[in-house]
Amino acid sequence: METRRALVTGAASGIGAACARRLAADGVQVVAVDYDAAGLEALEGVQTVVADLADLESLSDLPKDVDILVNNAGVQQVAPLEQFPPERFSYIVRLMLESPFRLIRQTLPHMYGAGWGRVINISSVHGLRASPFKAAYVAAKHGLEGLSKVVALEGAPHGVTSNCVNPAYVRTPLVTAQLADQAATHGLTESEVLEKVMLEPVAVKRLIEPDEVAELVALLCGPASASITGSSFVLDGGWTAH
Ligand SMILES: NC(=O)c1ccc[n+]([C@@H]2O[C@H](COP(=O)([O-])OP(=O)(O)OC[C@H]3O[C@@H](n4cnc5c(N)ncnc54)[C@H](O)[C@@H]3O)[C@@H](O)[C@H]2O)c1
Repeated sequence: METRRALVTGAASGIGAACARRLAADGVQVVAVDYDAAGLEALEGVQTVVADLADLESLSDLPKDVDILVNNAGVQQVAPLEQFPPERFSYIVRLMLESPFRLIRQTLPHMYGAGWGRVINISSVHGLRASPFKAAYVAAKHGLEGLSKVVALEGAPHGVTSNCVNPAYVRTPLVTAQLADQAATHGLTESEVLEKVMLEPVAVKRLIEPDEVAELVALLCGPASASITGSSFVLDGGWTAH
């Protein structure tokens, strides 16, 4: 893996930071991108780039000569459909679907040239299942699932694989922030939200750790990964077993 270069988006926090650290531990040269400059500073041994990934026109300034692309940056918005702010819907689809498309589009030529590439899309259980009050997030993640499969089909003759990783609730700031939002929306306390909403459909009654997600990402980039493509890997404590 020492010869590989990876671009990880949303790498200042949570799952992205865990992926950047895990790939760097394998010897991969990691470019960590985020708009949170302070968060990026905490990462050691990786190149960092401060950028707003929702600013589609500026994405062409990011490195294109990468062998591994981890599309991870994301945000959540919890609101009933009839009150869902349309500009927030557009923003979430731009950040979590259009931005990955642009990054894939501009990095594939390098991967095709090298005859090897790995596109990892951090989707979610919400790429495969819906929940109420998360219209933009669920729509963007379902779109990412389709995009990932098209990349798998086009990339295969060039040695490029594309897969989704689909966690249930992971212990990150994105989830911590949701506890308060969901408490207000559902009329519950934050601990009731964790127990009755987030962990209710899950058989393993705990939040997933970011490092567990990063381990799966590393596996999908590793030596045994060539035939794994066009798939979505649930890491959901049994949620979708229902
Ligand atoms: N935490 C979970 O339970 C969970 C579950 C399933 C999927 N996911 C997915 O994992 C990914 C990472 O989520 P997380 O839980 O680690 O969240 P997080 O909030 O800890 O990290 C997200 C990172 O994305 C960055 N980011 C957001 N908008 C950006 C923008 N416009 N430009 C640049 N950077 C931006 C943030 O600064 C942050 O560092 C997301 O795509 C999320 O949908 C998370």
